[in-house]
Amino acid sequence: MQIGRLLHGGDYNPEQWLDRPDILEQDVALMKQAHVNVVTLGVFSWSVLEPQEGDYHLDWLADIVHRLYANGIYTILATPSAARPAWLAQKYPEVRRVRADRTRELYRRRQNYCYSSPIYREKVRAVDERLARRFGGDPAVILWHISNEMGGDCHCPLCQAEFRRWLQARYGSLEALNKAWNARFWSHDYTDWEQIESPAPQGEDAVQGLALDWKRFVSDRHIDFFKFERDVVRGIVPEAKFTANLMYRFHDIDYHDLARELDVVSWDNYPTWHKPAETVEQTALDTAMMHDLFYSLKGRPFLLMESSPSFTNWQPVSKQKKPGVAMLSALQAVAHGSDSVCYFQWRASRGAEEKFHGAVVGHDGRADARPFRETAQVGAALERLAPAAGTGRPRQAAIVHDWPNMWALEGSSGPRNAGLGYWHELACHYNALARAGVTVDFVGQDSSLDGYGLVVAPMLYLLREDFAARLCGFVRAGGTAVVTCWTGVVDESDLCRLGDTPYGLTGLLGLRRAEIDGLYDEERRRCTPAAGAPLALPATQASVLCEVAALAEEDPALPLLTYAEDYFAGCPAAAVHPYGAGRAYYLASRFTPDLYDALYAAAAGQAGLTPACPQPLPRGVLAARRDGLLFVQNCTAAPAEALGETLPAYGTAVWREGAEGRERLL
Ligand code: GLA
Ligand code: ZN
Repeated sequence: MQIGRLLHGGDYNPEQWLDRPDILEQDVALMKQAHVNVVTLGVFSWSVLEPQEGDYHLDWLADIVHRLYANGIYTILATPSAARPAWLAQKYPEVRRVRADRTRELYRRRQNYCYSSPIYREKVRAVDERLARRFGGDPAVILWHISNEMGGDCHCPLCQAEFRRWLQARYGSLEALNKAWNARFWSHDYTDWEQIESPAPQGEDAVQGLALDWKRFVSDRHIDFFKFERDVVRGIVPEAKFTANLMYRFHDIDYHDLARELDVVSWDNYPTWHKPAETVEQTALDTAMMHDLFYSLKGRPFLLMESSPSFTNWQPVSKQKKPGVAMLSALQAVAHGSDSVCYFQWRASRGAEEKFHGAVVGHDGRADARPFRETAQVGAALERLAPAAGTGRPRQAAIVHDWPNMWALEGSSGPRNAGLGYWHELACHYNALARAGVTVDFVGQDSSLDGYGLVVAPMLYLLREDFAARLCGFVRAGGTAVVTCWTGVVDESDLCRLGDTPYGLTGLLGLRRAEIDGLYDEERRRCTPAAGAPLALPATQASVLCEVAALAEEDPALPLLTYAEDYFAGCPAAAVHPYGAGRAYYLASRFTPDLYDALYAAAAGQAGLTPACPQPLPRGVLAARRDGLLFVQNCTAAPAEALGETLPAYGTAVWREGAEGRERLL
């Protein structure tokens, strides 16, 4: 689906306006004015595509697809499975999800189908086949969008049976399952597969291996459902390309697994801009971390499938993007590897839950309204940035982010049940690297580490043996690793590792974990530079968890920081260990941001990583790189200097870099 330029457009719901042909007509004119070249159609159209069982109506959709195409606007065509018509839920109760407490839902909302229901699959197949036959091979349709924001879980009898089958395939025998779950604990040895039930508030919630497997199973079910729909369409349109729209910090699906099934990754980006507790730069970094995660899933450009041109209506307080922030956030997506800027939604609906959600065209229908004007400006900028389309990014640093680890870490009970702040931990490392202009990928434990200079393993509680070995090999060959507290604790079944930990990494780190202490939210422990440290780090404060490490007797790590209080005063809080041709850093706790800035300034240099921008940038100005392009963004409300030029408030400059030097593209 390479079209040689950046896509600009968004979710379009003409099915809500079929009684207003004048509005549909006006939409085309307004889209052209806004430099729109793509729309996503059909996401929630099922009740119009099939108003009665087996009675299909696709002409209205074909008319719209072709009218848009005649005006230079492509279609991303969605399958309608995310929201079913009322008749379907009424006639076939099994399609309605059952909650963890075993109550079956009434007809309601969306994204709540049972992914195991044969009837649901049959009905989805029937409508998807119609769409595929009608639009397969149509040059207007450049991409298929399967369902919408898949997630949640179903605990119905069909899903319980599937779960047991899934466990049988994973373990082969109850004996193996009992061992993996340490089911002997509280006398839980299972003697019949039928005894196993998904976790429930009134049922099992203490067998943490079971809970972890349930998460794996649910993720697999969603991916199975995606594959089912994709293959229905692919069976009719072999050349079709597929995406699914993914989400911010999403928990329910292992996106590394799902991404293998997608042709293009896409995601829906709704930052809470202008929160009182956060600067625009902090919100931008939080968003950049997600863009980088989604780029990394396939190591290829992704699509920004949804964003709001103005504000949402579901955040605690839905603030308007201040003038210039729509452009800043649109171009940030491109800077980090997106080949599109798309919105939810083109035109605001008149009623129901999202009537006040931001849209390019509001209820007043005016082209001089600010969201429309700013969207048109973004569209014009994207046309100038056409050379960015399809370009990759350099491989520099990788942060390990793994769904099974996140599930196990958060599902466990241990030194701090008040929350480990896993995403906050990732952000501590990410923000320092991103501020230093280092390109960051997020890798899983199946990913290759080839080409990276620096690999960070934050709270890698569930550390696989093979990955530990690869991390050691990476450092031995000259790489730099950073490993934090609460790493290498359990195996894939959440069974504690026996012997010294961090499991598989004690030789790499030159130390072992002797103890770990939990801190209350408000507690801090002072840390000071260690005497004779080979790298000067600033004094800092430890929070959340304090690991107490014992240095190896032979070939020990070199302490960089030591705790300055509590019973573990004098123990290393940070250390470095030369290993093979590389080095491994160890962080025993979570520290203040300046500690990470100092650490990564040194580590990035040692790893030979050059910053995106050759000159230091003022606070609040961020740089990012795509092959041949340098993006510099001013995330502050005041003008800022960068590379000898003045960027206005929230302004972005883009340079094309070539043998002859830098040329300003935007
Ligand atoms: C999600 C959905 C859209 C819409 C937006 C609102 O991203 O995919 O249908 O509900 O949220 O922000
Ligand atoms: Zn179910």
